[in-house]
Amino acid sequence: MIRLHEILKRDGVNSELKQVISHIMIACKEISHKLGQGDLAGILGSSVTENVQGETQKLLDVVSNDLLKKILVEDNCVKGIASEEEDYTVAGTESGKYLVLFDPLDGSSNIDVNLSVGTIFSILEAPDDSRQGDDQTIYLQNGRKQVAAGYVLYGPSAILVLTTGKGVNFFTLDRHIGEFVLTREQVKIPADTKEFAINMSNQRFWEDGMKSYINDCLAGETGPLAKRYNMRWVASMVAEVHRILVRGGIFMYPWDNREPNKPGKLRLMYEGNPMSMIVEQAGGLSTTGREHIMDVTPEGIHQRCPVMLGSKNEVEKAMGYLKD
Ligand code: AHG
Repeated sequence: MIRLHEILKRDGVNSELKQVISHIMIACKEISHKLGQGDLAGILGSSVTENVQGETQKLLDVVSNDLLKKILVEDNCVKGIASEEEDYTVAGTESGKYLVLFDPLDGSSNIDVNLSVGTIFSILEAPDDSRQGDDQTIYLQNGRKQVAAGYVLYGPSAILVLTTGKGVNFFTLDRHIGEFVLTREQVKIPADTKEFAINMSNQRFWEDGMKSYINDCLAGETGPLAKRYNMRWVASMVAEVHRILVRGGIFMYPWDNREPNKPGKLRLMYEGNPMSMIVEQAGGLSTTGREHIMDVTPEGIHQRCPVMLGSKNEVEKAMGYLKD
């Protein structure tokens, strides 16, 4: 049995970063426990409701955010945090070496129906200057600057997927010992696939190239792509990316014209960048459809970006449709 801390040591991860990752995991284990308790914990739900005793129940995504926030602002290696759930960044320890960005519970519409959700995190080095941990400008670094990225998928088992820039490993939470244990090493995404994931109900809002690519996928083996495609949509990016890491595929949340000022639904700093680091470390490709997501210069901590990621050859094929 190889535990998470042994892999971090083997990969030469410094003690400060190890501490930050292990604190994130403490919060994730607690989130996993609460999710596993479901209605028994009295907090299941993605909207404020009353339980059978007439008490107001807290949103589970708010509970998850509070757990991560509390442990990280008290970590002396964390200068500050940015959360998808918070309007503003929060200062931690002034001398802290790292900035942690996270989506505490991605796919939260799945909570009510007891389906997979996940916590996504991204770790950056804090700049070596006088700016404070709540200064949003220190977080505006492109995805290539991440020193670690990961997610915990809360499914039938809780799985941590982590990269510190030396490939991608899976760790499964062993509930008997309360630790994440290595279960798959150096995961690689197959370059080819016959499976796509997209919310088809948005089709009429996409640009023409996107519509053409999906039409050609749907045309099957007699169409221009000459493949019989399968489709999946879990509405939880963590679950979609995990499926792609396990068996390949392409996941898209493309630009659409519903809100022209918001280029896509997903957030660059909490979803796009960390997932891109994981996917590219696993040999896949992660783009906006036109450029690498990790090359996008962020202008705001809550910025959105179109996402097209997964099996390298398929992503390149799909990008070809957007060029014209
Ligand atoms: P949220 O956490 O608000 O439920 O959003 C989830 C994200 C992402 O995980 C998923 O791929 C996508 O939004 C689903 O969006 P649609 O509901 O538009 O399909």
